[in-house]
Amino acid sequence: GTGLVTLDPGFANTAACRSEITYIDGEAGILRYRGYPIERLAEASTFVEVCHLLIHGELPTEQERDALSERLREHADIPDALRDLLNAFPRGAHPMTVLSSAVNTLAAFHADDCDPGDPAQVELATVLLLAKLPTIAAHIHRTSTGQAPVPPDDSLGYVENFLRMAFGPPSGGAGVDPLLSKAMDLLFVLHADHELNCSTATVRVVGSSQASLFASVSAGINALSGPLHGGANQAVLEMLEEIRRVDGDVDSFIKKVKDPDSRTRLMGFGHRVYKNFDPRSKEIKRLAQQILARQGSDELFDLALQLEEKALSDSYFVDRRLYPNVDFYTGLIYRAMGFPTDMFTVLFAIGRLPGWIAHWRELLADPDARIARPRQLYTGPNERDLPAGG
Ligand code: SDX
Repeated sequence: GTGLVTLDPGFANTAACRSEITYIDGEAGILRYRGYPIERLAEASTFVEVCHLLIHGELPTEQERDALSERLREHADIPDALRDLLNAFPRGAHPMTVLSSAVNTLAAFHADDCDPGDPAQVELATVLLLAKLPTIAAHIHRTSTGQAPVPPDDSLGYVENFLRMAFGPPSGGAGVDPLLSKAMDLLFVLHADHELNCSTATVRVVGSSQASLFASVSAGINALSGPLHGGANQAVLEMLEEIRRVDGDVDSFIKKVKDPDSRTRLMGFGHRVYKNFDPRSKEIKRLAQQILARQGSDELFDLALQLEEKALSDSYFVDRRLYPNVDFYTGLIYRAMGFPTDMFTVLFAIGRLPGWIAHWRELLADPDARIARPRQLYTGPNERDLPAGG
């Protein structure tokens, strides 16, 4: 059930709910999906295996994994009518705006798979979303950069297929760069769930009214788009570009952050739960070093390393327990892969999708679950009458 933990005007910590999916210890920097430490899953499991784990509660057997992969390939394509809809958006539309609209529109194309009370429809909606989100994302990327969309290739694995749809068939008939595919897979694993963060809480709140999985995930995508949440990975790159262009050096930018009147935040730093370090950020930083090393020096990466080093020894940040979070280094990797900054949060959404689905299913399967109805503390005027003659 949903109980009140603390009440505050910002609705920031009000609700809490039971869940068996993800465990976080913010002090110790622990993150586990269904009991498995993120470090072990990052080493040993693929994103498709983690999707199965989060949604069904167990890592898949070989047969289960192959069956899921087959169903994802089978449903990867999207109807031409949906492609036409995606093409109708203004050229400069933010990919997250188009993505949430497309996911909501899937309910129109799959109206018979929207009943949360029908297990078969929930299973199919789960596979449809997992299978089609990368295809929709790749279509958005291709058309927003003036390139023809690339259809899914059912001979490829899930992540490889996404990269091929996004960047086109590699020249000379070579396959997708295995290092990029491995890096993308790992980043999706690291983003796959994070208990009751803003967007997952949104999916639960919308799902609690028994809205469809498509409608609930579409709402989650909108919550994720905010710069304080998933939009931070794009905001970090824009911050680094601004430092390079305007501030010139890290010290003057940090000075601006510490000036309360400037209302400037060090994007990619801080977290509501992690107060010592974000375990994902360690993995991502290591991956950034590996990927960026391939292309020689990277000015923005050097700026990011300087920012981290200075912030971690500056009392403003240390006193407020601010450390690099999951978004601090990811944008640098996505940029090195060839994605434009406005696609970074779309990549976060693809990674977070299994977590959103798992939480929605857990809520809808809970016989005690009730519609979300947070309480408010009324602070407005007491009863009063209209002025005479009013
Ligand atoms: C994600 O919840 C999740 O799990 C989210 C996520 C997930 O996987 O789903 O981990 C993904 O959203 C990561 C966070 C990405 N957002 C950013 O990087 C944006 C920058 N960070 C913040 O704005 C902030 O740190 C939050 C939103 C992440 C957390 O905000 P809180 O917990 O509400 O903290 P706060 O705003 O109350 O700040 C406490 C103090 C304030 O200073 P004082 O008023 O006490 O003087 O710390 C300061 C804030 O001004 N502060 C920062 C800061 N973050 C907090 N100051 C400078 N730079 C920052 N980044």
